[in-house]
Amino acid sequence: MSPIKPEELECDIICVTHGHADHLGDAISISKRTGRSVVAVHELAQYIIGCGGKAEGMNIGGSIKINKTVISVVPAHHSSGIDAASFKISGGVACGYIIDSGKVVYHAGDTSLFSDMGWLGEMYRPDIVILPIGDRYTMSPSQAAIAALWLKARTVIPMHYNTFPLIEQAPMMFKEKIESKTEMNVLIPKPGEPVEV
Ligand code: NI
Repeated sequence: MSPIKPEELECDIICVTHGHADHLGDAISISKRTGRSVVAVHELAQYIIGCGGKAEGMNIGGSIKINKTVISVVPAHHSSGIDAASFKISGGVACGYIIDSGKVVYHAGDTSLFSDMGWLGEMYRPDIVILPIGDRYTMSPSQAAIAALWLKARTVIPMHYNTFPLIEQAPMMFKEKIESKTEMNVLIPKPGEPVEV
C-alpha cells in the first residue's frame, strides 16, 4: 500500500519483527542496496545474511545501540516461520521493539495481548505505541485499547489492518473509542505519510 517503492527508500535502521512475508517483505533487498543492517532475532538474522543482506542478530531481552538509538528486543506472542523459504527455515521467535532515540517508541510487532505489556509500560515509558488491531492473526481493536492503557501511552498508532481482507477493521472507531474514554490520542497515518516523534 505504500506509495514509496523499496528502490526509493532511504533508511538508517531496519528492524524486522518476524519472518512472515508481509513483515520481512523487501528488507533484504533494501539492506543490500543501502548497506544498512537489519536488526532481527538470531535465526532470522542468519537467514538474511545467508541471502546476502547485512544483519544484527539479537534475541529477547537484548539491546543494541546504532548511532544514537538504543533498540531493545521485547517479547511478542506470534510465530516466525520464513514464508520465502517455504517455512523450511524457522525465523526463531517473533518479537517487538522498544526504539529509544530520546523519544521512546514501542512497536509491538504481530502479537496477542499479554499482561507483561504493563511491565513494558513501567520499564520503558513509551511516548508512542504502535499496536496491531487486525484480529485473526493478532489482537483485536478492543484488546489493543487495553494494551494502550496498560502501556500508559500518550500516542497510539494502530497497524496491521486493511492490507488484506481477513484483517479488515475500522481504525476511526478505534480512535473514537480511545479518545472519548482516555487522555491518549490516536494517530492514523496514511500509507507513506511521515510521523514526527
Ligand atoms: Ni505475522
